[in-house]
Order: sequence, then structure tokens, then C-alpha cells
Amino acid sequence: MQRTICNELDEIKGRGLLRSTKMISGRQSSHVVCNGSDVLMLCSNNYLGLADHPALAAASRTAIEQYGTSSGASRLVSGTMELHEQLERTVATFKKCEAALLFNSGYAANTGIIPALAGRGDVIFSDRLNHASIVDGIMLSGARLVRYQHGDFGQLAKLMEKHGKGRCLIVTDGVFSMDGDIAPLAELARLKRTHGALLMVDDAHGCGVLGEQGRGSAEMSGVGSEIDIQMGTFGKALGSFGAYAAFSAEVRELLINRARSFIFSTSLPPAVVAASLAAVELVQTPEGDDLRRQLRTNTIFFRNSLLEAGFNIPDGVTQIVPIVVGSADTTMQFSEALLAEGVFAQGIRPPTVPVGTSRLRFTLMATHTHDDLADAGEKICRIGKRLGVV
Ligand SMILES: Cc1ncc(COP(=O)(O)O)c(C=O)c1O
Repeated sequence: MQRTICNELDEIKGRGLLRSTKMISGRQSSHVVCNGSDVLMLCSNNYLGLADHPALAAASRTAIEQYGTSSGASRLVSGTMELHEQLERTVATFKKCEAALLFNSGYAANTGIIPALAGRGDVIFSDRLNHASIVDGIMLSGARLVRYQHGDFGQLAKLMEKHGKGRCLIVTDGVFSMDGDIAPLAELARLKRTHGALLMVDDAHGCGVLGEQGRGSAEMSGVGSEIDIQMGTFGKALGSFGAYAAFSAEVRELLINRARSFIFSTSLPPAVVAASLAAVELVQTPEGDDLRRQLRTNTIFFRNSLLEAGFNIPDGVTQIVPIVVGSADTTMQFSEALLAEGVFAQGIRPPTVPVGTSRLRFTLMATHTHDDLADAGEKICRIGKRLGVV
């Protein structure tokens, strides 16, 4: 029988995995209007609340006045705008690296960088829970993929002994996007040294939040200088859009020549670059320190409330807090019941997470109040008990 679009949709529905989007009116903030009702936002990556910060909006407005609305083409075609270069210099200094390069999104960064650095005959060692954009970058590269169990650097050491010949790349999330734990970067850096491999860290969820002045998981782990490619995004804690990677000037030059997502795509527009620049500057100020402190306080309070209520949440210190439910159907019932009571927490199902580990992924923001989180905690506990999750 011919496979039709309709059959395919029925099959997704039958497995309880159909996805749809919800309508948000107004700004992305700690409270949003979702399908017409005011709800607490507990599933955004806008961790510091910068997505509606006046400094970022003002920088965007000024950039539009000065530079217009579009970059016109890929930077290799119509040129690098001053703002692109200013942001790259600022990011390189922030990450204590020689150079940096902008990409149009985290997805574009990973699918551009990985195939530019590894190809046929090379080996890529990848954590099993790495983000889909890393997996897709590896697939595009044609390199041999060797996956290791999540965070298991002991197993990685054995796999590197066995397969680590020729050019090797170790790639990992810095903060795992669906679990909230931090990669064992010191151990990965040691293995990289032993085997002469390259090490790439995707710090989409650590940048702006972890380490001194928000420099991220690499700096927090004390191995920033040992990471060959420090990639991060502007669309999460930094409240803007797009991505960067920081590294040596040599790697930058290679990527300008080899990374297809950089070469064959119109570059980021001035308004977006200006907002990112304002954000990278802001996170290094005392206001940035205050926001990180508040995010940490909120994280500790929320994690403790769930633990005290008896939920089984993975150990961790970051603002990403999952309750692993298991069943996709129960996860979505949990999410819908919370939304009906004014708490927006997205259910996450396969293929985003492994089969049997569907979960509610809560994400804290610096701009949540204590009352917001106490009220949400009570609702999560009550509904969780009713659904037999706790
Ligand atoms: C770890 C990780 N890397 C990359 C990305 C992709 O970033 P972007 O949303 O900028 O495409 C995400 C997005 O959620 C992510 O969680």
C-alpha cells in the first residue's frame, strides 16, 4: 500500500506522539498569554528573562535605524557587516578564545561545524543524549559515529583506545538539554589530551547562566582553555537568536571555507546581532550577576519542592528540571492538566528523548517569583499524585 501523508499522521497519532503548537500572545516573559489565558511560563529557555529586556530591544531598534533590516546575503557574498564582527570580537573575549564565528542558529552551527571538522575516515565520539542538531551534524559528516553511554567517560576511554585512530572529535552538550545535568568536561578534556583528539562542547544551556559572569559550563569546570570548539546559542539565556562558536583563528578560517551552513545561508540581520551584543555585554555586568543569583535561588527552591513532594528528579544544579514520567500519554495528560490550572510546562516525548522516558521538562527563569514557584509546586504535586506519577 502506498504510504500517504494521512497514513503517516495516523501512525504518529496512534503512537500518542502527535505534536502541535500553542498560540502565545504578547511577549515571552515569566507569564505569557497562552491560547487566551494568562499562564506561568515554566518551559522557556529564556532563563534570565532577557527576551523582553529593554536594553536588548533598544539595541535592536537602533541597529534597524542605522543598518536596515537585512544583511542581504551570505557574508561571503555581500560582506560582513560591522555588527557581525563586533559581536564576534566580543564573544571571543568573553569566552577567552582567539576568535569566534556567528551562525544563524544552534542547529545551523552544529550541522555546519561538525561536517567541516570531520569526514570520511575520521571518528566522532558522541554522548548518547547529545542534542539532535549534533546527531544531524554527525550524520551529514560521513565520519564514523561511536556513541558512549550518557556521561560515561570510563566507557569513552575504552572506546577511544579501540577506535581512536586518525582524526578524532569528541562532542558533547555542556548542559544536557532534556536532563539538565552537566557533562564531565574535565575528564573529557583529559581523554582529548591522551588521544590527541578535538573536543567540541555545545553550551546552548550553559552560556549566560553557568560560570563566572556566565561564561558557561567549560569555565565552570575549569577547562575552558582546553576545549577546541566552544559553541553556544543566543536564543536561550541571552534572549536573542542565532549562535556562535569560539576557538582558534585557524579553526575560524577553516569554518569560513568549509561550514556549509555559514557559506550557503544569508547571515543574521542587524537587529538580531545588536540584541545579542547587548545581551553578551549585559550578562557581564552586576545586573547579570544578580539575574544569575536569582535564577540559582529559584532553581534550588523549585528542585527542593519537587524532591520534598517525593518526585524522582535527576540530581543536578541547573535550571532544567525534568520529571521523567515514562508514558507519553500520561506525560501529555500531566502537561494539559497543569495548563488548565495556569502552568505551562511542555511534555517532551520521543524522538526528543528515548522511548519510555517521556517527561515534563520544567525550566526556571530568574524572573519567576517565589510565589509563582510555590503555587506551581503545589499544582504539580497535586496533579502528579492524581495521575500516579508520585
Ligand atoms: C543543546 C542544544 N544545542 C543546539 C540547539 C539548537 O539551537 P537553536 O535553537 O539556536 O537552533 C538546542 C536547542 O534547543 C540545544 O538544546
